[in-house]
Amino acid sequence: MENSILILDFGSQYTQLIARKVRELGVYSEIYPYSVSYDDIVKANPKGIILSGSPSSVLDKDPPSVDRRLLDYGLPILGICYGMQLVSVMLGGQVGKSQNREYGKAELNILDNSSLLLQGIKNGSTIWMSHGDSVIRLPQGFKITAEADGGHMTAVEDTAKGIYAVQFHPEVAHTDEGKNILSNFIFKICGSDKNWNMKDFIESELRDLRNRCGGKKVALGVSGGVDSTALAVLSQKALGNDVTSIFVDNGLLRLGESEEVLDNLRNKLNLNIKFIDASALFLQRLKDIDSPEEKRKIIGRTFIEVFNAELSGFDFLIQGTLYPDVIESNPVKGPSQTIKTHHNRVSEVIELEKMGKIIEPFKFLFKDEVREVAALLNVPEGIRSRHPFPGPGMAVRIIGDVTPDKLAVLRQADRIFIDELKKSGWYGKIWQAFAVFLPVKSVGVMGDERAYGNVIALRAITSIDGMTADWAKLPYELLDAAANKIIRQIKEVNRVVYDVTSKPPATIEWE
Ligand code: XMP
Repeated sequence: MENSILILDFGSQYTQLIARKVRELGVYSEIYPYSVSYDDIVKANPKGIILSGSPSSVLDKDPPSVDRRLLDYGLPILGICYGMQLVSVMLGGQVGKSQNREYGKAELNILDNSSLLLQGIKNGSTIWMSHGDSVIRLPQGFKITAEADGGHMTAVEDTAKGIYAVQFHPEVAHTDEGKNILSNFIFKICGSDKNWNMKDFIESELRDLRNRCGGKKVALGVSGGVDSTALAVLSQKALGNDVTSIFVDNGLLRLGESEEVLDNLRNKLNLNIKFIDASALFLQRLKDIDSPEEKRKIIGRTFIEVFNAELSGFDFLIQGTLYPDVIESNPVKGPSQTIKTHHNRVSEVIELEKMGKIIEPFKFLFKDEVREVAALLNVPEGIRSRHPFPGPGMAVRIIGDVTPDKLAVLRQADRIFIDELKKSGWYGKIWQAFAVFLPVKSVGVMGDERAYGNVIALRAITSIDGMTADWAKLPYELLDAAANKIIRQIKEVNRVVYDVTSKPPATIEWE
């Protein structure tokens, strides 16, 4: 896209952060796998290119690389970490293994105040390092503009070629001046215009939807969460009553959720809703299934089947897929990122996509951008601030097979925990919280009796985007109140535990 910044992803855990930071600065940015062809990059016509970091080493055999022509193309390039090492070796410099892996905070020591990349950047500010290799000899034409502690080169440039590179990570919050450095690159060096904002995005999507689907019958799936609700409001705004929002109760929702969602969508937002109660079918298909991936696949397929049965007569299906789903389902390298099958990317959906019948207006948006869109579309605050809830619902929060009895226990426990979080003001401070039904029983004493009961795990996490997460340091009093109520009110449960694992190494959901 014109005026955009293109990010070539070499598999760094921080690549999405680069894109989000650039967008926060008001410039559209898109992530391409490093292997994209030179012609596709030229076709995209960006203002500049950022090369991400990587878990790989340029010293590996066949390291991930880019077409050499890119470096002579004349577009400004910013290499970050691996990106710096890659341009260095490609242009005749040398990279070696550092004696110690440099990980953590360091101090930026600016050597050249005339560098456009470093203009206005505070000398001595903190930068974040994470690398095992270092450039030991620069290519001809490059100069060092900043060093880190101990005199290591950490920012270099060849202004004649328009190539800039940093060894540290400007995209992470720990680099104090990171956003300003990225801002210097995209505005001062690339000359981008600040023209990415959600108001214009909405206008352009409304136009696109009208052009593509005007006068046609359109269906979309709605779950009551912020993404699909915003999408339904946007679509109905564009296409009026040609849009039907289909809400499927898969029997895996939280306590009272179905009624609440229907009330929100029908009565508060005046959406044209078709409600399908398919809970019996989902539960029957899930009977005796305890493999997490199997459960996800069954739910994904059943959902499509139920949905498809409603689709005859419709010309298009609109989906609320977000950018992280798109990136996660197309990992740069290897299987490591395909950790869980997201149910909106199962093969049936991909088939429909091939027939050109799927429209995904949010597929280039991050969650925080969708929340902004929702606010601009007057989606009520209660829906906008709702925690994310996975498509497979409580099935991935019941470890082992899913039964109506376990669902009933988990629903009550979940409600008690969420109510306590809301009462204490903690609900709005965290990304997500829920209860998990564990497949073990434990011994306890209740009254004078020895009890053998179920165990509920509580999980609450803080996160910016769900990609990484920290367990929430909830007050003991809050955990105590929730645990006591769960045990007092749910006779099947005699033990409550709190999950104190971050992501990574754990995922947010237990399955
Ligand atoms: P994990 O468990 O992968 O979760 O760390 C990251 C975020 O994604 C949600 N999640 C899903 N959402 N379909 C969804 O729509 C899914 O299959 C799915 N799996 C996980 C999860 O709740 C968390 O917010």
